Amino acid sequence: MKYKSHKIAMNFFTFAVLLFLVQVIIGLVAAVQFIKPDFFFFAFNISRTLHINALVVWLLCGLMGATYYVVPEESGRELWSIPLAQFQFWATVVTVLVVVVGYIIMGLFPQANITVFGTLLLNEGREYIEAPRWADIMIAVSAILFLINNAMTMFKSKKITGIMGTLLGGMLFLTLMYLPGMFYTSSMVKDQYWWWWVVHLWVEGAWEVIAGALLAFMLMKLTNAPRQMLEKWMYIEVALVLFTGMLGIGHHYYWIGTPNYWLWVGGIFSSLEPIPLLVMVWDALRVTKDTRSTTNKLGLFLATAHAIFNFLGAGLWGVIHTLPSVNKWTHGTQITTAHGHLAFYGAYVLLIIAMVYITVPEMRGVKEYRMSRGYRSFWWQTVSMIMIVFIITGAGMVQTYMERLLGLDYVTVKNNFNTWFWIWRAVFGVTYIIGVCMFVYDFFKIGKEPVTATLSESKA
Ligand code: HEM
Ligand code: HEM
Ligand SMILES: [Fe+2]
Repeated sequence: MKYKSHKIAMNFFTFAVLLFLVQVIIGLVAAVQFIKPDFFFFAFNISRTLHINALVVWLLCGLMGATYYVVPEESGRELWSIPLAQFQFWATVVTVLVVVVGYIIMGLFPQANITVFGTLLLNEGREYIEAPRWADIMIAVSAILFLINNAMTMFKSKKITGIMGTLLGGMLFLTLMYLPGMFYTSSMVKDQYWWWWVVHLWVEGAWEVIAGALLAFMLMKLTNAPRQMLEKWMYIEVALVLFTGMLGIGHHYYWIGTPNYWLWVGGIFSSLEPIPLLVMVWDALRVTKDTRSTTNKLGLFLATAHAIFNFLGAGLWGVIHTLPSVNKWTHGTQITTAHGHLAFYGAYVLLIIAMVYITVPEMRGVKEYRMSRGYRSFWWQTVSMIMIVFIITGAGMVQTYMERLLGLDYVTVKNNFNTWFWIWRAVFGVTYIIGVCMFVYDFFKIGKEPVTATLSESKA
């Protein structure tokens, strides 16, 4: 390990990867509960909460791990304070575990979610960020310690690269956007209004800025492309993400009681959102084709796959239902769920997996590593995810037609007409989990096995 600080990056990756496995196993529980609601020892509401909160938390931990790798490497020095980073890591782990136990307790004994100092003890509601207020505060403190440590490292080194500055800018934006989710208003409309600041401005704002910076970093490490050129395109991508994504928030303000102009603002700006994502694909493909120079073929393959699936999941599966004239029919159906899965998978799951395969071999001090399991895991995950997304898109089309056009009620459609979609989703949920198991196993093995398979591949 070149920098001792990279130990922190490894810690965050390890926690993230384990939580990833938990997330998808609970996703499968939720999928089976669509067919058999009393299947597990807690009900669907808890499995859904755990599935999506675990997703958000492990992705955040993955992004923190990536930052703790990039900042020492870009600034050419150790972190400002390694003990502070260690403390921040363990504080995060403990908070997350206590929150998870709290969700499960609430599932078994709903009355345990009592009010303490005017806030709920175990679960505050609001999809994706249900953590109670005390945990919100812990998370915000953890994020601030994280930012201070990385920013101090950057300033001490007096070497502020574009990639590092953009990455930390994205992280600052991410932290600030957590705050609107930390207070309540008595109006449901206003409450939803602020909640979307967190959810939308994260995934279509701050996180995409971070993805832009990390894409530039990964391409820089794996190709001969000059830094200046990569950073130039990164700035263009990030500027376009912010220009289209910030007002693109309007696509969540169509039907919640906000003024009518959001129909236009949301429709126009969110329709433009795929453009920066397409530029990223072009950037990755062009750079990979012209200047590839790496032995880490899997890393480059995953970085490119991330760019492509970011465009397909967020851009394409987003834009198909983003116009008000379409969204008034599809809003809140399984079409939304299909998009949610492919977008998160392409934009962020693959981003973290790519960063793992690019940085972990270096942290373990090896130049070459065995790649076959990594490729296999990618294909199991990707084919299963594509199948789940097609199946759920189909379920969503049936749902939209029967509920919104024929006027049947939600449960009738869910129980009588969509059963086969639920069964096939669960089947491909199992194959997806097989892919994740391969990845988790490989994570602990990268660089520790003989590389014969890789060498014969590169000679071929
Ligand atoms: C990586 C980026 C993105 C991620 C991770 C993502 C994820 C999600 C998720 C999880 C939801 C469901 C929210 C809920 O529970 O209600 C959602 C809703 C939505 N997304 Fe995205 N999204 C991304 C980008 C985009 C883009 C670029 C567009 C448009 C071009 C878009 C359009 C929409 C729309 C219109 C909805 C609302 C659907 C409804 O009315 O039910 N998304 N997104
Ligand atoms: C990396 C993999 C995965 C990601 C990124 C992911 C992401 C998500 C997201 C964002 C939602 C909320 C969607 C919405 O509100 O519309 C969700 C819900 C759900 N996920 Fe996953 N998920 C993954 C894997 C799985 C797997 C393997 C299964 C099992 C088949 C699964 C089953 C479910 C179910 C049943 C729901 C609830 C859907 C609903 O409320 O209609 N997920 N997931
Ligand atoms: Fe959005």
